Amino acid sequence: MSSGDKPRGQPQSPLQSESDVNLSARRAEWSARSVNAETRDLLQRDADAFLHQSVSTPCLSAIKKAEGIWIEDVAGRRYMDFHGNNVHHIGYGHPRLKAAIAAQIEALPFAPRRFTCEPAVDLAEKLAQIAPGNLAKVLFATGGSDAVEIALKLARAKTGRFKTLSFWDAFHGAGFGASSVGGEQLFRGPAIGPLLPGAEHVAPFACYRCPYGYPVDADGKPDLGTCHLACANMVSYVLQREGDVAAVIAEPARAVPYLPPPGFWQQVREACDAHGTLLIFDEIPTGLGKTGRMFACDHDGVVPDILVMGKALGGGILPIAAVICRPELDVAGDYALGHYTHEKNPVLARAALTTIEIIEDEDLIANAATVGAYAIERLENMKTNHPLIGDVRGRGFLIGIELVSDRETKAPANGAAEAVLYRALDEGLSFKTTMGNVLTLTPPLITTRDQMDRALDIIEKCINEIEIAGLGRE
Ligand SMILES: Cc1ncc(COP(=O)(O)O)c(C=O)c1O
Repeated sequence: MSSGDKPRGQPQSPLQSESDVNLSARRAEWSARSVNAETRDLLQRDADAFLHQSVSTPCLSAIKKAEGIWIEDVAGRRYMDFHGNNVHHIGYGHPRLKAAIAAQIEALPFAPRRFTCEPAVDLAEKLAQIAPGNLAKVLFATGGSDAVEIALKLARAKTGRFKTLSFWDAFHGAGFGASSVGGEQLFRGPAIGPLLPGAEHVAPFACYRCPYGYPVDADGKPDLGTCHLACANMVSYVLQREGDVAAVIAEPARAVPYLPPPGFWQQVREACDAHGTLLIFDEIPTGLGKTGRMFACDHDGVVPDILVMGKALGGGILPIAAVICRPELDVAGDYALGHYTHEKNPVLARAALTTIEIIEDEDLIANAATVGAYAIERLENMKTNHPLIGDVRGRGFLIGIELVSDRETKAPANGAAEAVLYRALDEGLSFKTTMGNVLTLTPPLITTRDQMDRALDIIEKCINEIEIAGLGRE
């Protein structure tokens, strides 16, 4: 490669955060023994046809079926999908959703600009009904990243300010606004920038690895009497010092996953109110029941000014995202905040409406709360027998198992985590790793206790094997 081919100052490899890497030796080894000739051929065509990008192309394998909690690869192997990009709350290919989409295509397939349609209005009204507090005014987009852009524009329009405050290590999407408020090098590196001006960042809450250095107890819980919520204090401090921040944007429960320490969001809400800053919650992965409540922020009793949702809203079949805000933020009627081609697409709206109805009618949020609590309890017990497990955390079906080679130093056991990931695939369980060493489980809300047990049996078996092989001590 000539020096002119390489973006100026680009590091050799960006820090890993979002997902398992797609070019590792372990992946190559898994691929060599697991992928058949037909799959290999498709993977090669995929790699030839698509732009290569981190954590995407080249791909791991190819699937030909997705049904309920299962995906099936081209070679006919089935995997419980405990990843699913958080789109598959109701399970893949839910028959009621497929029927509703088919009927909507027959009735009205599209609504061009300047025209509304009943499904779009019904959906907007439904979102206002399920959203926290008084959030009631809505815009739709076809992806989470675009919805984040709308939220950022709206915050500027309302406040007349342009600065934002967000967390390092967060992901909010791939657009320039979303990448600017995001804190992941993969999406912000020197090859991508310059990004939006005024996008300030602070260290996130992350009690097990508190960026401010405060310890946690053996259960990973912070001692608030000692740390005094240093992470929230820093948000208040920056808002006060800057004085003109338009919005704080963050995931109320971080997808890493990390839960906020008690009182965190109450304090940030107060600081936002004190400094005229809006609070935007990105509930794109956590919304619609993932954490055992309709929205993750419902656990904290804190209502944002703007809430963004997406992913599961399309029922795992169609792409739709939404921004919902306080009525007082309806201040930019002379400008175009989103105005996307598929803004009021009746088929997308029908998919979202039916998805919410399925979540409600099948009581899926209660299932996520109950089976999720059971899973976390089982994992806590597992931790007592497996030194590789440094921390277990999560809520509902947002679950993290952090692997460490030494519980004292908390040295991340990245190699062991990757080995568990590929061994689990052999056993028929798919999930992703975050930050390199956190096994991150985000099963669909339809997952039963038996299926959860089956998945946790696989994880325990794989962790056991890797401990015996001494990998965790590398
Ligand atoms: C927290 C968060 N925000 C935003 C996004 C971006 O959503 P999309 O991929 O639909 O653009 C994601 C996607 O993973 C996400 O997890």
